[in-house]
Amino acid sequence: VIDRILIVGASQAGLQVAVSLRELGFTGSIALVGDETHAPYQRPPLSKAYLAGKATVETLSLRTPEFYTEHGIELLTGTRVTALDLDAGKATAERGEQLGFDQVALTTGAQVRRLKVPGADLAGVVYLRDLTDADHLAALMPAARSVVVVGGGFIGLEAAAVARAAGKDVTVVETAPRLIARAVAPLVSDFYREAHERRGTRILLDRSVASLTAADGRVTAANLDDGTTLAADLVVVGIGVDARTELAAAAGLTVDRGVVVDPHARTSDPRVVAAGDCTVLPHPAAPGQLIRLESVQNAVDQSRVAAATLLGQQAVYDAVPWFWSDQDDLKLQIAGLSMGYDHVVVRGDTEKERFSALYYRDRRLIAADSVNRAPDYMVVRRALAAGHTIPAELATNTDVSLKSLLRP
Ligand code: APR
Repeated sequence: VIDRILIVGASQAGLQVAVSLRELGFTGSIALVGDETHAPYQRPPLSKAYLAGKATVETLSLRTPEFYTEHGIELLTGTRVTALDLDAGKATAERGEQLGFDQVALTTGAQVRRLKVPGADLAGVVYLRDLTDADHLAALMPAARSVVVVGGGFIGLEAAAVARAAGKDVTVVETAPRLIARAVAPLVSDFYREAHERRGTRILLDRSVASLTAADGRVTAANLDDGTTLAADLVVVGIGVDARTELAAAAGLTVDRGVVVDPHARTSDPRVVAAGDCTVLPHPAAPGQLIRLESVQNAVDQSRVAAATLLGQQAVYDAVPWFWSDQDDLKLQIAGLSMGYDHVVVRGDTEKERFSALYYRDRRLIAADSVNRAPDYMVVRRALAAGHTIPAELATNTDVSLKSLLRP
């Protein structure tokens, strides 16, 4: 019998494991342990509505305090688990606390990559991953005039959009030759560059920050590798995240850019499952690879599977990936995985900031990025879940509904 389940990491994935365990009828004890001081909250708004002052801590919270007591979930915040002894069934936390368990779920998430240049530790250089980061950034924003954003991925562009909308002078510095290169096709990258430039944000590609200059211990300028100097009283760094795998690795689990799991969210040790940003996983949309999916969707869907696996129930993770990013009034929604595409078609009008990019591999639809075209996104998401496709040559005609074009 499994009496005690320990969940390490109290964010979206960890909470979902706990909730799913109860939904599936588990009556044993559940300890949900996290090193952040807040109870589980939504992270995506931190770089969007929360940073813009349009959401409060209360609205971010995923569950009320009562929820945890009512469902018998022992939530331990501000507690970092430092070691796992799987054979002894014991975890040790930072202040020496011991936690016994029969099985473990690792939902340790990801951590930001740090900028490694001279001056990176100065006051005024900030990251954006957790609520503490967001509060820090929000506190510095009002007085800032010149904001340099390092990294033109999702976090960088979302933060840039908020800063620009607040009237700041904003420059994004991206090392790659295009924006959001990890996730979207070149035409979508180009669209985002132009859209941000139209809003008055400077976008510098193929450029990196070589050092940061200070006065009185605070950042005042960013010096780029091409010799350019940008005034900067606030530097926001969004250069990607790495899976937090240290605990898994120390416990002897297989790690490869993330905690390696199978389609059942099981790690290399049968007593341990893992889910969310900390994992690398096999997925039917990326045959033959282990991929990382950094998203709420993955945290929730993979955690449901992990909970079932802990209880010895058969469950397989094959949900269609989806993702979103809000930048000013541009609502990007992504369905599916575009990696390995060989053809892209555009439906709608990039000039009017309302279009979808549909991705194909071997003539079959595999993904879509929709900007301000939510219905397209919904149709594609459902199509992918049902194993349907949409002929590329017909998809570009916006007079015809996408739904009417679905084919087996
Ligand atoms: N200088 C400038 N740009 C850099 C540097 C650097 N030294 N190093 C990396 N970059 C760029 C990358 O080329 C990439 O475009 O930073 C960008 C990072 O983008 P993402 O990988 O999307 O990561 P980030 O924007 O930090 O988002 C982190 O938050 O919103 C979620 O899904 C998102 O899980 C992701 C996380």
